[in-house]
Amino acid sequence: MSKQKTHVWGIIIFLLGLGALLLACNKEAGAPPKGEKNVAKAQTAIGDPFGQLPDGTAVELYTLTNPKGMKARIMTYGGTLVSLEVPDRNGALGDIVLGYDSLDGYLQASPYFGSTVGRYANRIGRGRFKLKGVEYTLAANNGPNHLHGGLKGFDKVVWKATPFEEKSARGVKFEYLSTDGEEGYPGNLACSVIYTLTDDNEMRLDYRAVTDKPTPVNLTHHSYFNLAGQGAGDILGHELVIKADTFTPVDEGLIPTGEIKPVKGSAMDFNAAQLIGSRIGLVPGGYDHNYVLSRAGRGMESAAEVFEPASRRVMDVLTTEPGLQFYSGNFLDGTITGKSGKVYRKHCGFCLETQHFPDSPNKPGFPSTILDPGKTYETHTIYKFSTRK
Ligand code: GLA
Repeated sequence: MSKQKTHVWGIIIFLLGLGALLLACNKEAGAPPKGEKNVAKAQTAIGDPFGQLPDGTAVELYTLTNPKGMKARIMTYGGTLVSLEVPDRNGALGDIVLGYDSLDGYLQASPYFGSTVGRYANRIGRGRFKLKGVEYTLAANNGPNHLHGGLKGFDKVVWKATPFEEKSARGVKFEYLSTDGEEGYPGNLACSVIYTLTDDNEMRLDYRAVTDKPTPVNLTHHSYFNLAGQGAGDILGHELVIKADTFTPVDEGLIPTGEIKPVKGSAMDFNAAQLIGSRIGLVPGGYDHNYVLSRAGRGMESAAEVFEPASRRVMDVLTTEPGLQFYSGNFLDGTITGKSGKVYRKHCGFCLETQHFPDSPNKPGFPSTILDPGKTYETHTIYKFSTRK
């Protein structure tokens, strides 16, 4: 082989070696220090101060942003989603959840705006249930009944927050220890909710809990959505699909009667897309009902879809839960002035709360909500956002 050829091969081998090394270095440079999750370029959320409770406990606000510009702000008080900015058909961001600009509003009067709700979401009749032969008495904080965990539910405590960053997602893990006897519930319950904002415009909620005594557990997320933007009027013109053939009718106190009733042919039927307002007049008090989802299995399944014609925003709701509370904001009455001075009137937000059924501790026919020691409570829900052409 000629001297010249040897020379050329020498250069080629040298360049290949250099290339490999650079690759390895890059790989090394990009890799997180040992033990940390793989950190993409974006910054891990840091907690910004967001005020204090009257007892001086500091509250922090975490901001999550994805490459598409979608932005979520979540505070440690109540593990609460304070704002959720989502692009409309033109890519313009709009905040689509009701709430307040500052902590004070939430401390004064919040009908669970964006909260993490528990220990037991929705109602327990007469604030009582029996478990393993023992009768438990809870706060009757909604007429004669118990609602959303009691006087100081999980929406009114400060959670410990741990932000994280993943390859194509970022989030915050919130943790809270509800001690034995808190609000009348048995057992020390260690629970967590993980908010994850993915690159695909999904807000994912992962709930877990363990206990040292048998206890009812039913955690949910209580955002009031308006896909046209918070404060942009009522949601009666939103188009809704709920994948449920039956629901649980309620008495005048909104406690399920125990029946499972078909929706077919009634104003409760949203299997085909319907405007929320088109038949609401036929539903006394407005929609505030638990739908029994038509599920194929136990995995993450589509439960509902909402479309808002002006912004052409779409929200898909997926969950592992058996039930969905559809609440059309009936108790909002114009006495609350929320973000950027918007007055919240009746029906100006709707909630889709994935859950086990209300009053299940008193309804043996409903899926059980009792968590035993050694078992893990685990549920998952996704609110996925897109636009329709
Ligand atoms: C849930 C209930 C409603 C109402 C709201 C909060 O959605 O089903 O009846 O209590 O919470 O105000």
